Amino acid sequence: MPVKKPLPGDLEPIETASRDEISALQLERLKWSVRHTYDNVEPYRAKCIEKGVHPDDLKCLADLAKFPFMTKTDLRDHYPFGLFAVPRQKLARLHASSGTTGKPVVVGYTRNDIDNWANLVARSLRAAGVRPGDMVHNAYGYGMFTGGLGAHFGIERAGCIAVPMSGGQTEKQVQQILDFKPDAIMVTPSYSLVIAEEFEKQGIAPEDISLKVGIFGAEPWGEGMRAEIESKLGIDAIDIYGLTEVMGPGVANECIETKDGPVIWEDHFYPEIINPETGEVVADGEEGELVFTSLTKEAFPVIRYRTRDLTRLLPPTARAFRRIGKITGRSDDMLIVRGVNVFPTQIEEQILRDKRLSGNYQILLTRDGHLDNVEIRCETQHELIGKLSAADVQQIAKELQHRIKTIVGISTKITVMEFDSIPRTQVGKARRVLDERPKQL
Ligand code: DLL
Repeated sequence: MPVKKPLPGDLEPIETASRDEISALQLERLKWSVRHTYDNVEPYRAKCIEKGVHPDDLKCLADLAKFPFMTKTDLRDHYPFGLFAVPRQKLARLHASSGTTGKPVVVGYTRNDIDNWANLVARSLRAAGVRPGDMVHNAYGYGMFTGGLGAHFGIERAGCIAVPMSGGQTEKQVQQILDFKPDAIMVTPSYSLVIAEEFEKQGIAPEDISLKVGIFGAEPWGEGMRAEIESKLGIDAIDIYGLTEVMGPGVANECIETKDGPVIWEDHFYPEIINPETGEVVADGEEGELVFTSLTKEAFPVIRYRTRDLTRLLPPTARAFRRIGKITGRSDDMLIVRGVNVFPTQIEEQILRDKRLSGNYQILLTRDGHLDNVEIRCETQHELIGKLSAADVQQIAKELQHRIKTIVGISTKITVMEFDSIPRTQVGKARRVLDERPKQL
C-alpha cells in the first residue's frame, strides 16, 4: 500500500514539535490542571492532603507519580456532579457511561472543553486521512454515549459533512451509504462488519462502495479484524481510542501513513503506565495499566485516572507524540459487549431484584459471526423447587431480560433453571463470567 504522507498544512505545529517543546508544554499545563483540580474538587484535595502532597510539589513531570490516583469508585462515590471543578452554570454538556452498579458515571464539559474535544476529533480525522469537504457517515450511537456527539462535533470542525446516522437499522445504513456516497465511516469495528455483510448480501462489491476510510473504536479489535474490515469494505481501517472519563473518542488516534497504534494527543492528555497491583509507574514499552491526566479540561479534570485498560506506551513515529499499543485486556472485570460497557455487578443487581431468583448466576459470552451474544443463566430459589409452571419460568426470564435491556443496555438470552443447576465453586470466588469469545489478535 502506498504511504500517504500528510499534506502541508494538515498538521498543527505541536504534532511535529520536539520532545523538549512537548514536555515543556505538558509541564506548564500539568501544573495548571493539578492546581485547578486541587482548588476546585474537594474530594481530590482531601486525597492529596491525606497523601501529604500539594500542587507546589509538582516541579517536573515525574513528580506527578507522587499524586493520588482517581478511580471509577471515586466517580461513583461522588455521583453525579461531586468531582466537577466548575459551577453548574459554566457547563455546556453532560455525558455518561456505565458505572460498576446501577449508577452511571457522569461527566461534564464547559464550552472550552467541547471546543478542545471537537479540535482533537478533527485532528484525529486528519490523521486518518479525512479532508475538508469529505462526507462522514457517523454510526456511533448518539445520546449519553460520547461516541455519537463526540465524533459529530469533530466531523463538523474538520470541515466535513456530518451524516448523523447513529447505530442500528443496518439496511438503512447500507441504503444511505449507497445513496449519499460518503467518503468515511465512524462506527464500532464489530458493527462495521455487520454493515459489510449486508453489502455482501445485496451483492455489492467492495470497489462499488464509496467509503475510503473507517475510524473504529469503543471496543478492542486486532490486526485480524483490521484485515477483514479493509478487504470487505475496500477501505483503510484506523483505530480511535478514548473513554468517557477522560473526554470521549479522540484521546488517541492512529495515523493512516503508519497504522501502528493510536497516537496519544499528548498536548491535552498526559499518559502513564502503572503496575496495576502496586501502582508503581513502569517504563515505556512495558505492559501495564494506562493512566491519564487531563491537561486542559475545565469542568471535569482527571488527575491520574486509572483507565483499567492494559497496554504499553510506544515511541513516536508518524507524529511527535507517543502511541499506545493494542488494548490487551482490563485490570477490572468490565466487559465490552457490542461496544457497550457492562460490569457483571450491574447484571447481578438486576437478578437480585427478583426475589424468586437465587443469587447464583453465570454470564456466558460467545461470538456469532462478528457480534457478541450474551446468555445469562440463573436459577430459582430453593423453596420454589417443583412449584413453578413453565409459564412462570418464562415470565421470570422475560422480566429479567427487559430490565437488563432497559437498565444495562444490552440484549440477552435468559436461561432460568432450577435451584442448584449452576455449579458451585468449592474454593475461592464463583466464576461468574465465561467469556468464550475468540481473543482479538
Ligand atoms: O468508548 C469512547 C469512544 C467512542 C472511543 C467511540 C472510540 C470511539 P466509553 O464508553 O467510556 O468510551 O468506553 C471506554 O472502551 O476504557 C476501552 O476499554 C474501550 N475502548 C475505547 N476505544 C478503544 C479502542 C468510549 N480503540 C472504554 N480499542 C475504554 C480498544 C477501546 N478498546
